[in-house]
Amino acid sequence: MPIHWFPGHMAGARRDIRRVLPEVDLLIEVLDARIPFSSQNPLVDELRGEKPCIRVLNKADMADPATTEAWLASLSVPANSRALVHHQRQPGARDAIVRLAKSLVGPIQARPMMALILGIPNVGKSTLINTLAARTIAKTGNKPAVTQMQQRIAVNAELTLLDTPGFLWPKLTPAACGYRLALTGAIADRVTDFQDLAGFALPFLRARHPDGLVRHYGLKGLPDGDDELLAAIGRRRGFLGKGGVVDLARAAERVVLDLREGALGRMTLETPEDCGVGLVQEP
Ligand code: G4P
Repeated sequence: MPIHWFPGHMAGARRDIRRVLPEVDLLIEVLDARIPFSSQNPLVDELRGEKPCIRVLNKADMADPATTEAWLASLSVPANSRALVHHQRQPGARDAIVRLAKSLVGPIQARPMMALILGIPNVGKSTLINTLAARTIAKTGNKPAVTQMQQRIAVNAELTLLDTPGFLWPKLTPAACGYRLALTGAIADRVTDFQDLAGFALPFLRARHPDGLVRHYGLKGLPDGDDELLAAIGRRRGFLGKGGVVDLARAAERVVLDLREGALGRMTLETPEDCGVGLVQEP
């Protein structure tokens, strides 16, 4: 599942972020709570230096709550980095983010804090901005280096957002990140192959969410091999071609869409341990 990103876009985003950093007090990176590692942009840690950072674990309504707790802890080190959980129907997000920002930035006289808000496409950045601003703000569009479209959005007297229009890319390696991004819908389906994706998803589902598979597809149990499992799902769904042969491509697409839409239950596709992210104590 190779993902390609254009080096020119990466250079443009790096340049844009470097240019605005001196005028911001903190960064807010919006992540998908189902893939808090894969949905990070490497530039944030590379460029932020000593600037505080809030990671918003968005779409938490679709993620596994216990794994979200583990990610909250691991993303809240070092001391100037904090994570919080959010989803679009959750009340009180604005107060929680402003309070956390104040605690990280400290007292600022005479002007609101300026926060650079970033997120890879489809992570829910625009939805969050609308929640914070309590009004609908036009989407800046995920186009490469559209500097002129940068927006300042007043949240309240204490916080202003600087929205980055640059086209931010997700974690590109290891390959598992690509699969997880595609499974959550962060990568356009026209560049993905559902059978390839299902080949990644089924062993994960079998190991961590077997009940969801059994319940949703009405299976009697889980067949031993993943090909057999996919065939059993296809049969249960009636995806049969000529001579009663199971249409595996259709079954694969169904599994991927069911996982993505939450039909197999709330789940997080990566734990801190999966990603080699531990709780590192500050010296
Ligand atoms: P972006 O600016 O980062 O590209 O993302 P955007 O806010 O446009 O959100 C992308 C999709 O994610 C939207 O769905 C949006 O409704 C959904 N979304 C945002 N926040 C949450 C959340 O907390 N929980 C859940 N479950 N979904 C969320 P869409 O189907 O692409 O668009 P629409 O049908 O909502 O218009």
